[in-house]
Amino acid sequence: MAFEKLWKLAREKGSRLIVAVDDERALNDMPGLLEKLEGLAVGIKLGFPALFRLGPEGIMDITKSWGDAFYFLADYKLADIPYIVNLALLKLRELGFDGATVHMFQRGLEEALKGEVPDVIGIASMSHKSPLLDREFHASLRYAKGVGVKGLVIGATKKELIGEGKKEGFTIFSPGIGPQGGEVAEALRLGSDFEIVGRAVVKADDVEEAVRRIVEAERKALSNR
Ligand code: XMP
Repeated sequence: MAFEKLWKLAREKGSRLIVAVDDERALNDMPGLLEKLEGLAVGIKLGFPALFRLGPEGIMDITKSWGDAFYFLADYKLADIPYIVNLALLKLRELGFDGATVHMFQRGLEEALKGEVPDVIGIASMSHKSPLLDREFHASLRYAKGVGVKGLVIGATKKELIGEGKKEGFTIFSPGIGPQGGEVAEALRLGSDFEIVGRAVVKADDVEEAVRRIVEAERKALSNR
């Protein structure tokens, strides 16, 4: 089953929240942050800021210590030649990542997804203005299906596209909530499966309260879906 660990944690925690940790202060005290998030966040998304701050070894320490509590998502939006995307995915798996984002416009994923790679999530539409990707949206979905990509990123701000991705049977991940304009729980209401929230959680004065508020709104949206 695709995203088995993620769905298991989602059921156990009653949550669809993945927290993006990019903020320097948050990265300086990952154990402190993860303790606060453990009860209600299902996943942790790390990108270049985390890699620059923690290094590969630091990331591996975290995925080893917290691998039972969270689904770790690597967000490097890989888009190189297939050989290099494959190499990067294999390394990300070694670092303990459960999932990874990849672009699809460059094609070649047939070759890039070989071996022990993490779950792969294709970027179908971004949360900021991304007209070129959006124009290719339906072609991207057909391509994703053909190469066995089961998850898609569709920004929470792209309300009209979320349902279309869901209808095709993909697991949908929606970032872009809060500072980028998306409303908490709106993407879930429209058919997304997981919401990715960064600054609205990690920069909150009271992180636990922010997470509680978001997860409560998300549960309500799902119960009305
Ligand atoms: P904020 O602080 O805006 O952080 O809640 C959002 C996080 O999500 C990432 N992001 C995206 N990742 N496609 C992606 O794959 C997108 O369209 C997209 N928009 C935002 C961003 O890197 C940050 O970590």
